[in-house]
Amino acid sequence: MSSHSDADERAAKAVGGKVQHILSEIEGPPYRTDGEVLEEIEGDSNVSGYKTLTGSESASEMRVRQEDEDKDLQVERMKAEIKKLERKLEITAQSTKSFNAQQKKLNEGFKVLRMKYDDLKADTAETMWEYIPKKIKGFDDLEETNVSIYESSTRIGEYKIGEILGEGQFADVKLAWKRDSDEVLAVKIMRKDKVHSVKDLKRVQNEIAVLRKVRHPNIVAFVDVIFSTTRIYLFLEKGGKDLFEFFSSHLNGVEHEMAVEIILGITLPIAYLHSMDICHRDIKPENVLVKVGEGGKIQCDMIQICDFGLCQKVKEPEVSMLTEFCGSPGFFAPEMVLGGGKYNGLLVDVWSIGCIMLELTLGHERFCKNWMSAYDFQIIQRPSSFEDSIEDAVENLDLRSMTDETREFITDVLVIKPSERTTSENLLSSAWFKGHPSLPENMAVEKQPRRVHLDSMDVQATGKVRMRKPEE
Ligand SMILES: Nc1ncnc2c1ncn2[C@@H]1O[C@H](COP(=O)(O)OP(=O)(O)OP(=O)(O)O)[C@@H](O)[C@H]1O
Ligand SMILES: [Mg+2]
Repeated sequence: MSSHSDADERAAKAVGGKVQHILSEIEGPPYRTDGEVLEEIEGDSNVSGYKTLTGSESASEMRVRQEDEDKDLQVERMKAEIKKLERKLEITAQSTKSFNAQQKKLNEGFKVLRMKYDDLKADTAETMWEYIPKKIKGFDDLEETNVSIYESSTRIGEYKIGEILGEGQFADVKLAWKRDSDEVLAVKIMRKDKVHSVKDLKRVQNEIAVLRKVRHPNIVAFVDVIFSTTRIYLFLEKGGKDLFEFFSSHLNGVEHEMAVEIILGITLPIAYLHSMDICHRDIKPENVLVKVGEGGKIQCDMIQICDFGLCQKVKEPEVSMLTEFCGSPGFFAPEMVLGGGKYNGLLVDVWSIGCIMLELTLGHERFCKNWMSAYDFQIIQRPSSFEDSIEDAVENLDLRSMTDETREFITDVLVIKPSERTTSENLLSSAWFKGHPSLPENMAVEKQPRRVHLDSMDVQATGKVRMRKPEE
């Protein structure tokens, strides 16, 4: 029996195998002989490459389906996001376009304005530098523009230009040499386009006119002037370093003898200018040049004043009628701000000499603390507060440690009421300078009447002051 059933079983298997083969050929998915469907599974060794499919989803199928659904959702979301971005891009492109259009319009407007501005500037320059000097009296020292002169940062015409010596509000001052000459000069270079008004033009005119006219060993001498298309080159005798720089290495002030030399070196040229009815109006350390000698020695003839940009020729009665505010805090006379702003141009120079004298005597730090503080920016905005603060500063000056002569000098000069202030001429006969070899003989002993003339010829006649001869 058993062999029969074994044979039956073998036969059945053989038939089953054939059926399965035929079915797989006809219908695709294979069937097991027991009728269950088989599905191909890669690498599933248990079912020889097939897995069993039941009526409900398996867990892995559910996971796959879920993942597919998630991916679809994500894709949908991204598509929506991309759409939004595309919309934004469109809007941005539109506003960029309109911005560009606006900018183009603005640029065109700007170009038109620039052209108008350039035309106006050219007209103004022509009026300033060509028309006014030719047609209006009082501008004779402004020469015609030399349009063909060679001009670069290192050369102007026959002059070589070197390194910077000093910078001011209106100009740069540089070293200069004339071709084929060893003489070292200073050239003050002023840009024409910084001259905006007739008032500024008058300053340039005054500076050149006065420098051409004056001759004094304590004033930098005029050498030459060139007017190029863009600049004015004013060639001057080269002075030493300015007193402002000098103070940085003399923070505690200077000895009595040195102070006398420096102050006399300033008072002599100021008295000389005043004798010619010229006021300087900008006496301050930056505008006083000092050539320091061997061993740090300073003599009065090593001092020179410069910067005549604010100077003014004044004659009685106009001398007391000036109104233009000039000078720098710490050094300008109080009447420039007080008393309705009318002032005597000669007496404001005397006050400024006194301020420099204070800085030399007190030293920079004490000068700033006890004196400059009275000129605080906020304070000078209101005349009444400036009046109080300058009065306090004068009253509180500690003169106890000073010699009688120094005290007398200061109390004669730093007088708030201009009518009670000493003059530059009288200052030369003060006890402080008494017996100094650089004083003109006739000024050395007694106080002189107010308007003694110290023009170069008179002074040369004394033989005491070294004056440059005009032809030198
Ligand atoms: N002849 C000179 N020799 C040497 N240095 C000079 C000479 N002239 C002027 N300087 C230097 O150049 C600086 C500027 O010159 P200056 O004061 O003439 O110019 P500015 O623009 O008119 O000045 P500010 O700002 O006082 O109006 C001076 O403070 C000084 O240091
Ligand atoms: Mg100056």
